[in-house]
Amino acid sequence: MSSTITAIWLENRRGIDGLGIDEPAPRLSFIPNIPSDAYEVRLADDSGSVLAAVRGSRLVDWPFPPLEPREGGILSIRPVGQELWSDPIRVERGIGDMWSADFVSPSISAPTTGPRPAFLLRTSFDLAALGIERSDIVRARMYSTAHGVYELETNGDAVTDDRLAPGWSSYRHRLRYRTHDLLPLLRDGDNVIGAWLADGWYRGHIGFDGGLWDVYGSDLALLLQIELTTRAGQVITVPLDWTWHASPITAAGLYEGETYDATLMPDGWSAPQFDASTWTHAEVLPRASFTGRIEAPTAGPVRLTETLSPKTVERMPNGRIRLDFGQNISGVLRIRPRGPRGHELRLHHAEVIENGQLGTRPLRGATSVDTYICSGRPDEEYAPRFTIHGFQYAELENWPGDLSAGDVEALVIHTHMDRTGWFKSSHEGLNQLHSNVVWSMRDNFVDIPTDCPQRDERVGWTGDIQVFAPTALRLFAAHGTLTGWLRDLALEQAEIGFVPQFVPWVECGFPNFPTAAWGDAAVIVPWEMYLNDGDTTILEQQYDSMRAWVDLVDGLTGHTGLWSSGFQLGDWLDPQAPPDSPGDSHTDRYLVATAYHVKTARILEKTASLLGHPDDAVTYGAIADRATTAFQTEYISPSGRVVSDTATSIAVALVFDLFADADQAERAAERLLHLVGTAGFHISTGFVGTPIICDALVVAGSMDYAYHLLLQEGLPSWLYPVSMGATTIWERWDSMLPDGSINPGDMTSFNHYALGAVADFLHRVVAGLSADAPGWSSIRFAPLPGGGLTYASARYDTPFGTAAVAWRREGGMLTIEATVPVGTQGVIVLPGDRDQIEVGPGEHRVQTVYRPTDEDPEMPFLGWRREPATA
Ligand code: BGC
Repeated sequence: MSSTITAIWLENRRGIDGLGIDEPAPRLSFIPNIPSDAYEVRLADDSGSVLAAVRGSRLVDWPFPPLEPREGGILSIRPVGQELWSDPIRVERGIGDMWSADFVSPSISAPTTGPRPAFLLRTSFDLAALGIERSDIVRARMYSTAHGVYELETNGDAVTDDRLAPGWSSYRHRLRYRTHDLLPLLRDGDNVIGAWLADGWYRGHIGFDGGLWDVYGSDLALLLQIELTTRAGQVITVPLDWTWHASPITAAGLYEGETYDATLMPDGWSAPQFDASTWTHAEVLPRASFTGRIEAPTAGPVRLTETLSPKTVERMPNGRIRLDFGQNISGVLRIRPRGPRGHELRLHHAEVIENGQLGTRPLRGATSVDTYICSGRPDEEYAPRFTIHGFQYAELENWPGDLSAGDVEALVIHTHMDRTGWFKSSHEGLNQLHSNVVWSMRDNFVDIPTDCPQRDERVGWTGDIQVFAPTALRLFAAHGTLTGWLRDLALEQAEIGFVPQFVPWVECGFPNFPTAAWGDAAVIVPWEMYLNDGDTTILEQQYDSMRAWVDLVDGLTGHTGLWSSGFQLGDWLDPQAPPDSPGDSHTDRYLVATAYHVKTARILEKTASLLGHPDDAVTYGAIADRATTAFQTEYISPSGRVVSDTATSIAVALVFDLFADADQAERAAERLLHLVGTAGFHISTGFVGTPIICDALVVAGSMDYAYHLLLQEGLPSWLYPVSMGATTIWERWDSMLPDGSINPGDMTSFNHYALGAVADFLHRVVAGLSADAPGWSSIRFAPLPGGGLTYASARYDTPFGTAAVAWRREGGMLTIEATVPVGTQGVIVLPGDRDQIEVGPGEHRVQTVYRPTDEDPEMPFLGWRREPATA
């Protein structure tokens, strides 16, 4: 990018290409490096360019006539008066509903058992037969999607590096297609399109408790349309005649793994000279048989994002070769074996080692074994296409000969998202904890936000992303992923009558009832997205879904506000709950339910006001008031004791603002400090309490207690897994017990992001970087040093540019540095200081005297004292 404009994006899709969008008039956002009142926007296509002037740089209305399907061009921006244009981005509408192609299928009905093979589909077209030459074509587009998962090749080359396309959506309602630029791959004469096609989520094995097959249908089918635009402006839709053949992938399952027989590979199958005369004609399935919407993606594709080499390689007594990649990931191995033709080897995966063996018990039914049969060629290379595993360790069974450097690597695979948030401190444990959160997010954003990447589950649990959303939106540009997922949530909710436990929903035996903290994702996730980017569009889009959820819960309370019946997961995974009954928390589950009812009704009240629905605001305000009163009557004693008397119950009451008066809140705060202190600063909260416990301690007046809790290494605590060598966030506080054995519970993952929701607190409070207004137009720099840390820093790529804070304690002085991006303003708040120092765009440095209080052997870093600032 040029020096005047950094990064341009459409709608909330930061970092995502604009080829094949749905919106006729996408709003533009960009980051100017120098302030300007106005900007010029240029849109260029083959026939010339158009110019427009705009004001502002955030969510600017599309300044040109609305785009028709297929219309668009190359867009660049510059501040008025500057010569240099920004680097361009491509903006082009997809085909909307102008499909003329039908689905083609190599397998209309599924064999009864899986895992099943993948297929090759092939078609060719001759430019000469179409009466054109390659040089006549100015634009060539391939629009594609599938029932199943697919990869495309053209004339022997891969079309994209997308993996597991089209990803998982609620296929009954919504199937996403991608637009590809075919022009660079086209040649004169004959051109070939090849597709690999496998079961994936559509008819593969998915769901909870063992999962089900054929959830969305029994067919496997590809939908692909090619359109060529000539210099003369003619648009030719290329007629395609598809054939299919067995592929070398003889079995592929997301949970099970992939079997690839390289001796079966029909060489050159997607190149023009290949003889496909023996291939079978594909069946045609009329597109109209699919009743859902075919739409453009809102997020980037799943991709290979990093390649890891093994940290250690060990030959085991049983002959297997064990590899440790030093990092728990989602992905697959890439191998380069040199074995004789027909030699079969197997790849095993696990997150941990237990008793000297791969710890595969937590995978439950997800076998996670890939099998490769060598072709005998010297240059063999293989990475599974249609499976994905959660692993840090792998074992190669029957590897031919020795292993040389580069023979095996781990490919990290997940949704491509721009990183936006960073945190660092003087405490190595906290830094590792933060890194673990980042990795658990990467590993679990595999097209949809999932619970875990390894066992036979990997579904979009609503509660997990509900608690993790603020952290997710801080760490990565996750809006696109969440926008698409929320569409599915609303569609499933409308069909089922309430928000299901996970989205997309698979009816596979898990009790599906309206559940607090899980179903509340319908309201909280869009709200967090709005707070993060300041755009009310997501609230508009989800408004009906948000209302439907709160209305439903209001009805379930009999309009009393007290949600006191039905299935609840409560403070799931409270560390004191028995391993085989994680919902049996010490906190009353209906207390949690009613507290969440207040929270979401209150959010809806604000949303209604923002969207200009004052009557709704009154309605939801009244529901929130009613639920607050019900909570107080049922769960808070007049003096401020909270029923259940647990850290979670007091934390929700404090953070969700449920006390009748300040005296009650003060009494409860004392009690919370007492409970946390007497628990020896060990964690005593589950899914509901953990994300807010540190905030609750700050509200209760003690950041020191929050530090004690954060820095605790004994079990249970955030740093216990770190002390055990974890590289991701664990599902349970003790997924691995101190003796190195795996938690006996049937449900034990080493890669669940929910308990990592504390990373948001590290950024917002420990480092002290937060938005002071939705969308970061004003920024608060309010570090709360302590815990013996000598420095902490955080950086966030706001929609306006990078905001950063760093504090350092040195020789009795505290120095705070703040970076305020162009177009925003900020306040620096010194610890304990009511005064705020207002700051404008640029770099700022403030110093103050800062001394910890006298050391107390029990509480070595309790308290601090500051003297007037010398700013
Ligand atoms: C999932 C969780 C989820 C929970 C709720 C588990 O199996 O992995 O993360 O939220 O079930 O029941």
